[in-house]
Amino acid sequence: MFALEMIDISKEFPGVKALSGVNFKVRQGEIHALCGENGAGKSTLMKVLSGLHTARTYSGEIRINGEKKEFYSIADAEKAGIAIIHQELALVKDMTIGENIFLGREPKKRGVIQWDELYHNTAIWLERVGLRVSPDTSVSHLGIGQQQLVEIAKALSKHTKILILDEPTAALTESEVEILMGILNQLRANGVSCIYISHKMPEVFRLADSITVLRDGQTIDTLPGSSTNDDQIVSLMVGRELTERYPRVPHQPKETVLEVRNYSVWHKEKKGQKVIRNVHLTLRKGEILGIAGLMGAGRTEFVSSLFGAYEGKFEGEVLIEGKQVHIRNITDAVLAGMALVTEDRKRQGLILNMDVKSNMTMANMHRVSRYSVINENEEIKWGQSYVQELKIKTASLETPVGTLSGGNQQKVVIGKWLMSNPKILILDEPTRGIDVGAKFEIYNLMNRLIDQGVAIIMISSELPEIIGMSDRILVMSEGQFVRELDYHEATQENIMASATGGR
Ligand SMILES: Nc1ncnc2c1ncn2[C@@H]1O[C@H](COP(=O)(O)OP(=O)(O)OP(=O)(O)O)[C@@H](O)[C@H]1O
Ligand SMILES: [Mg+2]
Repeated sequence: MFALEMIDISKEFPGVKALSGVNFKVRQGEIHALCGENGAGKSTLMKVLSGLHTARTYSGEIRINGEKKEFYSIADAEKAGIAIIHQELALVKDMTIGENIFLGREPKKRGVIQWDELYHNTAIWLERVGLRVSPDTSVSHLGIGQQQLVEIAKALSKHTKILILDEPTAALTESEVEILMGILNQLRANGVSCIYISHKMPEVFRLADSITVLRDGQTIDTLPGSSTNDDQIVSLMVGRELTERYPRVPHQPKETVLEVRNYSVWHKEKKGQKVIRNVHLTLRKGEILGIAGLMGAGRTEFVSSLFGAYEGKFEGEVLIEGKQVHIRNITDAVLAGMALVTEDRKRQGLILNMDVKSNMTMANMHRVSRYSVINENEEIKWGQSYVQELKIKTASLETPVGTLSGGNQQKVVIGKWLMSNPKILILDEPTRGIDVGAKFEIYNLMNRLIDQGVAIIMISSELPEIIGMSDRILVMSEGQFVRELDYHEATQENIMASATGGR
């Protein structure tokens, strides 16, 4: 018998058939990966299961341990033992960890919240997920990875039987990922079923007992994790063989466009502490410079301060095309010809209730407006071309960005910055959360920009991507560039060795 059966599930939104007749079965105590391209319907299926899309707004049947269920709220699904950790984090920032975990379920005596008990219990759950912070810490003080662990602690505290993780590791550091893997293995041993959504194939193969592939809102196949491989799953996802992953074309780097000298960045909170220590960098037109390093090495702080988007202190010399510049905010950076695609695209990149078109043109008003009047036709023309190039799956340019799938939202942010026609394009984890087919489109686009003389800095934690696409690689460790490698000589091993402090 299956712990969960979803039978013939269909779900429509205005103008979009997100799911058409999906069948999905999960055994008790297994980790079941759900794979598919951006917009395939993974998150939608899980929102149906977790009571976010309520019964009667979809067709088909859900059975838990063979018993038919209808969920009219998230609470209904939770009562049936289902908890979801969403692709977008959903904690209340101004509350403490404990308040978040027990929100709406606070332990009470005669109507009075028992804070001691609440924080005592919180501490126990935090211990389970290996998060060593005080239970009364405000969530606003936590990094994204730590917030993810709080979400997991919260799910566990509800005595979940079926735990859904929608791209849980997108923002975790390596050590946090290890903690999560440990937790999932332990849950499996305790008979909990996990549904795991991820675009990271190595993780899927490391964890999954079974893998189900969705494409265009339909179930393609369910396979045992042990008897399939990366290439098979990827071709089921995209509906064709995908032999080449990294389209390398020869680049001819030209003159220096960016020079950074003696550059330091201080920690946002720990004022005396430097996160970047006296680094130097040169970037030439027509080259892709990869920056590798472990998460937390300082790469994001480095590029966001260059872009005027860092809240802490920084100093050093920055020259663009030989001229010294002082970039104090994002407007300065855009005027100087820079664009930054951030790793935390959701928070820094998009206005969710605005449509696709306006989001894309936000950074590029000078292109579509004259005397501050927005030229609608121009907006549509540019928007349309990037929707096509990046294969953004959206009903129209007028669709609110918030209704796109997670990966497609990310593509909108990328489109937005490409449209600003930058000289220097900085991509921070550009393909995180993006499916394999779309990654390839982004790489092709990078190559085209290089042909046009743009210079690209790419930060990535995916070493095959860094090695596959960069002309030159700088390895950052603890706030310094510890090694420079030509792509010919770069291997995962020598990059890792440098990144972890070895030489
Ligand atoms: N609330 C909504 N309103 C309108 N359309 C929606 C809504 N939610 C999802 N969709 C559409 O349904 C389709 C499936 O989206 P879904 O979020 O399930 O994809 P996904 O497989 O999770 O993709 P990703 O890997 O990018 O997260 C997409 O075309 C999306 O735009
Ligand atoms: Mg999704």
